[in-house]
Amino acid sequence: MPIVVVVGGQWGDEGKGRIVDLLARKAKVVARYSAGNNAGHTIVNERGEFKLNLVPAGIFYPEKTCVIGNGVAVDPAVLLGEIGMLTEKGIDTSRLVLSDRAHLVMPWHVALDKLDEASRGSSAIGTTGKGIGPCFVDKVARRGVRVADLLRSEDLVPRMQTSLDYANKVITGVYGAEPIAFEPCYETYREYGSRLAPHIADVQEIVLDAHKRGEYVLLEGAQGSLLDLDHGTYPYVTSSVPSSSSSGAALGVGIGPTDIQRVVGVFKSYSTRVGNGPFPTELFDDVATQLRDHGKEDGRGEYGTTTGRARRIGWLDAVAARYSVRFNGLAAVALTRLDVLDNLKTIKICTGYELDGKIISSFPSRESTLERVNPVYEELPGWESPTTGVRTFDDLPPQARAFIKRVEQLLECPVDLISVGPSREQAVIVNPIF
Ligand code: GDP
Ligand code: IMO
Ligand code: MG
Repeated sequence: MPIVVVVGGQWGDEGKGRIVDLLARKAKVVARYSAGNNAGHTIVNERGEFKLNLVPAGIFYPEKTCVIGNGVAVDPAVLLGEIGMLTEKGIDTSRLVLSDRAHLVMPWHVALDKLDEASRGSSAIGTTGKGIGPCFVDKVARRGVRVADLLRSEDLVPRMQTSLDYANKVITGVYGAEPIAFEPCYETYREYGSRLAPHIADVQEIVLDAHKRGEYVLLEGAQGSLLDLDHGTYPYVTSSVPSSSSSGAALGVGIGPTDIQRVVGVFKSYSTRVGNGPFPTELFDDVATQLRDHGKEDGRGEYGTTTGRARRIGWLDAVAARYSVRFNGLAAVALTRLDVLDNLKTIKICTGYELDGKIISSFPSRESTLERVNPVYEELPGWESPTTGVRTFDDLPPQARAFIKRVEQLLECPVDLISVGPSREQAVIVNPIF
């Protein structure tokens, strides 16, 4: 049975949580494979509205196993807070399993994230400040603290000591800030360990056993492919691999790349980006304000789920999106927030970039080049009517159908699912993904 990966196709916040909540109906296991609580996934279903940072969006269905994979950077305080919030709202979290191999975000990672950013001045990345970058730095430098270490003080003490000793050298020596004391952090993490212990397991077994039994497994991506450490707009990227490449999804839960049958890319009908870095189709006009504030009165405007920052807004960039389709090996596109375009008279799609007098249709690898390109637009008529109640492709206004067909053509990938609202049922399924 298929293992299906859901990845963000742009710069994050495409609606991955919403799509996973919809697709999870058929899955037995839903697993997060990368990032940490820099992610914020919003889910609106019959249980209410939820913002999840670490817990997979499958948690709302009884009898699904939800896995936090080894590729995730886990802040135990945030995870425990999320478990508490879900429990309070009557959601059963006993089926949540945390990989013993996942790395822990430590208090000094959060401190270093903020100090690193401040020291970059005007070149700051615009991180979420959640310590995710420094946690992955420690992982690669082989001085990280892992979830398994929480369970044995004989492991926890030396691991924390090694990581903190190095961090304090940087905090005091490089940044001239106050060092962090070991003892209170140790006591806090010991307590986290005892509270998280019932959830800690070897998740690789769970995923592969479900796969072997012929059950559906859904891998929930975080962030967007253009924030990917390898393929994104470096250095304005995150410190993990959100894409579906073998170093992302497969590595992040411990399966082989050939176990993955299908990769679905989630794309907004336009573009957004939080944080700094190149954004060729960015808008600064009334359209940007209109798209950003659509649904704002219900708390559903384009403002960061994790940080509350206003998201930068732009037209759909088909050059960037096609690049993302290609390196993710996407079999299908889920197009979200189509309804946000409902009131526009005309809609633009970027079909190429003008660079030094020439039109290019490939995505440049240098961020300095991306800063210089001028988007070439195609303008399509808007439909100027509500789509939020539409449930079949044929019932969409003809202009909306034409827009979707053009997106398919430009991205060179079928649009199998269209989302016309934040709630689970507000979807048009063109071809079933499972
Ligand atoms: P994620 O990080 O990719 O899961 O996305 P976020 O949750 O950060 O941001 C997506 C936002 O769009 C959330 O507020 C969702 O509730 C909302 N959303 C998702 N799909 C749709 C849609 O089709 N229409 C509208 N209006 N909102 C949507
Ligand atoms: P979801 O899963 C949007 C961005 C940050 C910043 C850059 C690096 O909700 O789509 P980091 O804290 O990761 O070191 O910041 O990456 N970023 C996201 N932007 N959605 C996300 O997650 C993001 N996770 C990280 O804004 O530009
Ligand atoms: Mg988000």
